[in-house]
Parts: sequence; structure tokens; C-alpha cells
Amino acid sequence: MRRLTQALCLAGLIGILAFYWRDPFDSGRLAGARVLLTGASGGIGEEMAYHYSSLHAELVITARKEAALQKVMEKCLELGARKVLYIPADMSLPQDPERVMQFAVQELGGLDYVVLNHIGETPYRMWEGDVDHMRWLMQVNFLSYVALASATLPALAKSKGSLLVVSSLTGKIPTPYTTSYSATKFALEGFFGSLRHELIMRGVDVSITLCILGLVDTKSAMEKIKGVVLSMPVASANEAALTIIKGGVSRAREIYYPWWVKPLCHLKDWFPDQQDWVLRSFYNYSRA
Ligand SMILES: NC(=O)c1ccc[n+]([C@@H]2O[C@H](COP(=O)([O-])OP(=O)(O)OC[C@H]3O[C@@H](n4cnc5c(N)ncnc54)[C@H](OP(=O)(O)O)[C@@H]3O)[C@@H](O)[C@H]2O)c1
Repeated sequence: MRRLTQALCLAGLIGILAFYWRDPFDSGRLAGARVLLTGASGGIGEEMAYHYSSLHAELVITARKEAALQKVMEKCLELGARKVLYIPADMSLPQDPERVMQFAVQELGGLDYVVLNHIGETPYRMWEGDVDHMRWLMQVNFLSYVALASATLPALAKSKGSLLVVSSLTGKIPTPYTTSYSATKFALEGFFGSLRHELIMRGVDVSITLCILGLVDTKSAMEKIKGVVLSMPVASANEAALTIIKGGVSRAREIYYPWWVKPLCHLKDWFPDQQDWVLRSFYNYSRA
């Protein structure tokens, strides 16, 4: 009898945990949602395009390479997207964010989600004083995000929509070989964190989700770290993409992927020197 009571209690506990830990993501919420997605010709952006399509969203995708965008668009339609259009654009050009916004709003008749995900190519090496590259990267990774957000805010305010900003662990914790990249990602948190306050203060119902990702297995990231990073856990681009999308639907303030990125970010405040030391041990370097 005692065993039976214990078993029933255990089953009850598992039931309660399963109830509270169930994934609250309602996939039906994205059917017909109007999404503008940048950096969608490859990597995590391409994976996000496929997830949104499987969930029957309407998409405008953008990046520079037209042939790659065309291929992604065709696969999106096969996967079930209600509508997909693409617009080639170079985010290093100051006029392109506005052009992309106008195209997306016109073609989709408004916007529910804007996902800022693109990044410019940057060498994975120590700082050698290339200020011009830093300036260019700021334009692509930061200023174009600001311009896209500013241009799309009226449409998002109308739909009570969501802005998703893809950042990185290196936007929370500086890591070696990423001086310029890290600076652009830190800038995102400053700007979008302040903007979030202001939207709330002005009663504008647009959520801003900052997405903090660890190392993800995209082709570009894997090529970059070859020979430089000794060992580091690598996460899946497909799962990262879905986690970002879910963060937007739940209107989360921040999302972290994979899970251990969050405690790592908090550790920085408690053990900064020890954390820096451990971080450097992941890298292959010698004092020349
Ligand atoms: N992969 C990782 O380990 C990792 C880790 C942390 C955070 N993240 C973040 O996740 C996001 C996606 O990263 P990813 O690894 O998927 O990158 P990726 O594979 O290198 O893809 C970058 C995307 O941006 C586009 N792009 C590049 N330059 C552009 C420009 N000048 N104008 C417009 N679009 C441009 C690229 O397409 P075109 O070449 O066709 O323009 C491509 O679609 C980024 O915000 C990144 O910081 C990634």
C-alpha cells in the first residue's frame, strides 16, 4: 500500500512538472504572420526562413546574393509558406534598409515580425588597427539594424508586432579575435535596450527580443574558427533558428541559445578574471 502511494505521488509530481515544463509555443500563431527576415540567404537566417515557412507565415527575405535567395524562396514555398518574396540588398549601403522596408510593407500589406539577423564578413583575428573595416562593420551589423528598426516601427506599432535582434555571446562577454564584431553586438544591446524602455514609456506595444547565441554550426562560423579555437561546444543552426522564432512569439525580452549561455553571461559579474582566463584557454595562440 505504501509503495502504491509513493508511486502515485511520483506519477503526480511528474505530471505537474510535465504540465509546467510543456513547450508553451503555439505554432498556429504564425500562420499568415507577415515576416521581414534579413540575412536569409544562408546560415541561421536560412533555417529561420524554413521554420517560418513550415508554420505557414508570409515572408520577405533579404541578403545580397540573389541566386541564393531565389533557392531559399523556392524551398520555402515547398515547405508551406503562404507567400514568399525576396529583395537583394546590401546593408552596407545607407539607403538599402529603407528600400527593403518599403518593399516588405507594400508586398505584405504590413508587418508582424521583423528579424534582424544579417552580419558582414569580418576576419577572425587579433586587432591590427583596421579602423575603416570597423566603420564598415558598424554600418552593416549595427547602423543598418537601427535604420531597419526605425523604418519598420510604424508598421510594427500598427500590428502590435515584434522586433527580433540577433546578437551573440560576444555581445555580452568580449572574446579574443572578435574586437570589431563584439563591438557591433554590444552596441545592439545598448540601443535596443534603451529603445525597449522608450516604447514601453510611450505605450507603443512592440516587443523587442535580443537573441544571445553561442557558437552555432553555420558554414561561415565553422570556417572562421578552424585552427584558432581549440575546443568549444557547437550548437545547431536549425535549433537556434527555432529558438529565436519562439522568443519572438512569446515576446521575450531576451533569449539565450544554447541554455548554458545564460549562466555563462551571469558568471561574468561574479568571477570576471577567472572567466577571462578560462575563455582564453579555448584558443590556440602563442606570443610572437
Ligand atoms: N554562427 C554562429 O556561431 C553565431 C554565434 C553567435 C551569433 N550569431 C549571429 O547569428 C546571426 C546569423 O549568423 P550566421 O552564422 O547564420 O551568419 P552567416 O551564415 O554568415 O550568414 C550571414 C547572412 O548575412 C548576409 N549578409 C552578409 N553581408 C551582408 C550585407 N552587406 N548586406 C546584407 N546581408 C548581408 C549573408 O548573405 P549574402 O552573403 O547573400 O549577403 C547571409 O545571409 C548573426 O547575427 C550572428 O552574429 C551567429
